[in-house]
Amino acid sequence: MAEPEDIYEKVMELAKRRGFIWPSAEIYGGVAGFIDYGPLGAQMKRRIEEAWRAFYVIREGFYEIECPTVGIEPIFVASGHVKGFSDKMVQCPHCEEYLRADHVAAANGCEGAAGMTAEALSGALRTSPCTACGEELGEVKVFDFNLMFNTWIGPGSQRKGYLRPETAQGMFTDFPRLLRFYRDKLPFGTVQVGKAYRNEISPRQGMIRLREFTQAEAEIFVHPGGKKHPRFDRYAGYEVTLLGCAAQEAKEEPVRMTMREAVEEGLVANEYVAYYIALTCDILVSIGVDPARLRFRQHLTTERAHYAADCWDGEVLSGRFGWVELVGIADRTDYDLKAHAGVSGVALTAYIPLEIPRMERRRRIIPDMKALGPKFREKARAVAEALVQADPGPDGATVTVDGDQITIPASLYEVREEEVEVRGVEVMPHVIEPSYGIDRMCYAVLEHSYAEDTVEGELRRTLRLPARVAPVQAGVFPLVSRDGLDVAAREIADALTAAGIFTEFDESGAIGRRYRRQDEIGTPYAVTVDYQTLEDRTVTVRERDSMAQVRVKRDTLPATLRGLIDGTTAFSSLGP
Ligand code: GAP
Repeated sequence: MAEPEDIYEKVMELAKRRGFIWPSAEIYGGVAGFIDYGPLGAQMKRRIEEAWRAFYVIREGFYEIECPTVGIEPIFVASGHVKGFSDKMVQCPHCEEYLRADHVAAANGCEGAAGMTAEALSGALRTSPCTACGEELGEVKVFDFNLMFNTWIGPGSQRKGYLRPETAQGMFTDFPRLLRFYRDKLPFGTVQVGKAYRNEISPRQGMIRLREFTQAEAEIFVHPGGKKHPRFDRYAGYEVTLLGCAAQEAKEEPVRMTMREAVEEGLVANEYVAYYIALTCDILVSIGVDPARLRFRQHLTTERAHYAADCWDGEVLSGRFGWVELVGIADRTDYDLKAHAGVSGVALTAYIPLEIPRMERRRRIIPDMKALGPKFREKARAVAEALVQADPGPDGATVTVDGDQITIPASLYEVREEEVEVRGVEVMPHVIEPSYGIDRMCYAVLEHSYAEDTVEGELRRTLRLPARVAPVQAGVFPLVSRDGLDVAAREIADALTAAGIFTEFDESGAIGRRYRRQDEIGTPYAVTVDYQTLEDRTVTVRERDSMAQVRVKRDTLPATLRGLIDGTTAFSSLGP
């Protein structure tokens, strides 16, 4: 694919001027890695989140939960973030700027920098210029920098906490309650949309790399032996652009493939991962990502977490940033539940009834309470409870009670071999995780929808946003602000608002100017009230992208616009 033009400055100029994105704390000089969403940006972001929920919450039926953004230390010890959630950092000896070592190496042509060790990066950086001041770095030490923001919980408290670096962990720690909520059945999914925090080393990529950002994550808990998706038919024939590991290593182009082919050929590990790749493509295109600039790239074995069975990134092509990851879709196996079970001591398993119960020989230990009572007195019950779980040897059984190790001779219990009927098994579910970065999605949508053309000799800037994510859904303009046109236009705007259509009323300036103002913020439809409106109760509706206009009855306008916005009515069906 041809390199797209770098339109970052144009997109951001429009985004700032029209109230989509502003630098955070601008009056104090701003701070890297944080942004404010202005009135139109906040509205668009919410609409993108709602579009995401329409897929995951409404269609997939995954209930949304909301956990705190501050988590206690054991959560992140178990998840591995305390030990391993770090990036390789280097400090420039000349300008003293802290830099991401792999990014500097990559910017200087070093291949595979993301997977390199600190020593290898130090070597690679020796002759590299600093990306901040341009001086050669020379002998520099590369070290790990943990990306979590930490805090203390409660005044004078010694309880350490962290701002969550992903929304996922709350869904793992809530697993036992979620399992009960879903009536102890697998598979089930749950989602969370909310803030995540990472103290990125040198965030210089606008909305792409933030220190505070919004994630939308789904955790789907599945039977470890059953990775066939129950609704795979929905996406089996869906075509997606895939760039597998082997193709990357051989420097080949991505291929277009149906999800069924991808699973049958073994390119994608299982139906679950394939299903969520296709669903992700569906969502991203529906919010305005250009399908020609969207691909799914499999993680190379050097980037993939050791426990992951498969991992794909949904990436979009940006003129400024190249291929940018918007979404990660991973089969995380039982890594997370196993880790939390280990640290919390709580069994994070699901009981799965067997279709056909089976008979099994089991060894049962029956404590002799008459003998244990006098010997262990008040501890006798605890000893007996530990004993039934023990694995006795020829010389007795060793159990731990209240921290004490006790050896119980074989004369104090009986071991019985029994045939028992097994009706079910405890399994630790595997997790399929599609994880989306909402801010990156917002940027991709802005960049991919930005267009310029010339209308009546003037430059027209348009955000070709799909109606479902456009912040303002309709503009209402009286042709002139007199003769009752202004009154009729206000009534029409009120009727649209009452129908839940977010409307801007604009009566100032030439009508062409008013159209341009709305085109620039992506408003898909403009309604003009003219003298004919007073005669026959019709208005003109103008479609943003084609600039075509049709006359529509004023009384049916709210329903017509609702159909256009929801995509159930085609503009072309409204007439010539
Ligand atoms: N639970 C898995 C997880 O968090 P990730 O790839 O680290 O995976 C998921 O993050 C998504 O979050 C990314 O695909 C990206 O869109 C977004 N993201 C990650 N770090 C970000 C940052 N510093 N700024 C903005 N978005 C970020």
